[in-house]
Amino acid sequence: MTATGLSAISFHTPHRYIGLDTLAEHHGIDPDKFSKGIGQEKIALPGHDEDIVTMAAEAAKPIIDRYGSDGIDTVLFATETGIDQSKAAGIYMHRLLGLPANCRNVEFKQACYSATAALQMACSYVARKPDRKVLVIASDVARYDLDSSGEATQGAGAVAMLVTANPTVLEIGANSGVFTEDIMDFWRPNDRRTPLFDGKYSTLRYLNAMIEAWKDYSENGGHSYDAFSHFCYHLPFSRMGEKAHRHLAKANKAPIEMDKALTGMAYNRVIGNSYTASIYLAVLSTLENTYADLTGQLLGLFSYGSGATGEFFDAKVVEGYQDHLFTARHANILNERIAVSYDDYVSLWNAYPLDDGSATMPEEARGRYRLASIDENKRIYIDQHA
Ligand code: HMG
Repeated sequence: MTATGLSAISFHTPHRYIGLDTLAEHHGIDPDKFSKGIGQEKIALPGHDEDIVTMAAEAAKPIIDRYGSDGIDTVLFATETGIDQSKAAGIYMHRLLGLPANCRNVEFKQACYSATAALQMACSYVARKPDRKVLVIASDVARYDLDSSGEATQGAGAVAMLVTANPTVLEIGANSGVFTEDIMDFWRPNDRRTPLFDGKYSTLRYLNAMIEAWKDYSENGGHSYDAFSHFCYHLPFSRMGEKAHRHLAKANKAPIEMDKALTGMAYNRVIGNSYTASIYLAVLSTLENTYADLTGQLLGLFSYGSGATGEFFDAKVVEGYQDHLFTARHANILNERIAVSYDDYVSLWNAYPLDDGSATMPEEARGRYRLASIDENKRIYIDQHA
């Protein structure tokens, strides 16, 4: 069977954030509730002229610069914060990146899970057509109502992944375990900017979906628990990953070795929830923040999307993977961010542009791509270097 998986993976997150200590101070609560109880430090905040398209283009651009776009004939764009009910967000990004015109372009949705469906389908496709490449994008803005219990679990970010045959970073295993149940733990009706959710219930359903997906993975011939060197979880907040890891270890009567999951949480702790991108940020964090050589090691991945669908699958680290990472670039993105005050956070929170007429966006994005305006309900994206 042809090996398939990732030959490049890169992320982007906006340059502004609010520290959760600032949020705690505003609400008059103990900052340890966020830093220890939720396990988060910062929430990334997009500006008026940044959204899932600009973040996706910023994440994918270094991959295109390094590897070119030859052979990319499919863009699968996963998001649950879509900007249009009809047109796929990937089509705007496709133009910004100058991708080949002979390319299909589709948007995927199932809460935080859909990038995993996109990745699995991309792997099946390149197994059939090994000379083709697929660009899989996960891009989201996680936004909850101000003063709600979800407020501390906001965030924003995008991950771009180049899926090929004979991958150079991660080989995605053919075995996976899946689970779906029809529940209302988190959802966003069409007329709402923010989700409705039952927070505590959602954490319990997440754990249940993980165990059910793990059982299915095991029954489908998956690896045993002790074969994995690291685990990467969907991280709505990093403490959820800790709970998941403890739960999975207990279910397997294994010792709880938190270091197998912690390096995967480093990026999420300072970016926040990025919905579809979150588990792939955990994968990146594991690859880029584990100092030991991971060649040949097996990662266990659990992807969850409320509503709900979960999938457990595995990925093997390919020799020479370090040469295909963007570690220094990612460190710069995080190091060069600026903190905002509570008042500036509220003003950015209210900035979420909707296509309801016309507007010119203030120039806030520091990256190359901007949402410049909305002109009679048409979103106008620009490449500032063009
Ligand atoms: P909450 O009511 O803010 O927090 O809700 P809490 O009072 O339960 O406290 C949280 C933890 O902090 C508790 O620990 C406290 O003891 C601890 P736990 O019981 O969990 O072990 N704590 C402290 N620790 C140290 N020092 C202190 C202190 N005070 C309290 N001083 C909740 C938390 C996660 C429910 C809320 O933030 C929420 O509703 N978030 C949104 C929903 C969510 O993220 N769900 C996760 C599972 S569903 C999912 O992952 C899918 C999702 O990504 C969406 C999608 O798929 O599209 C959300």
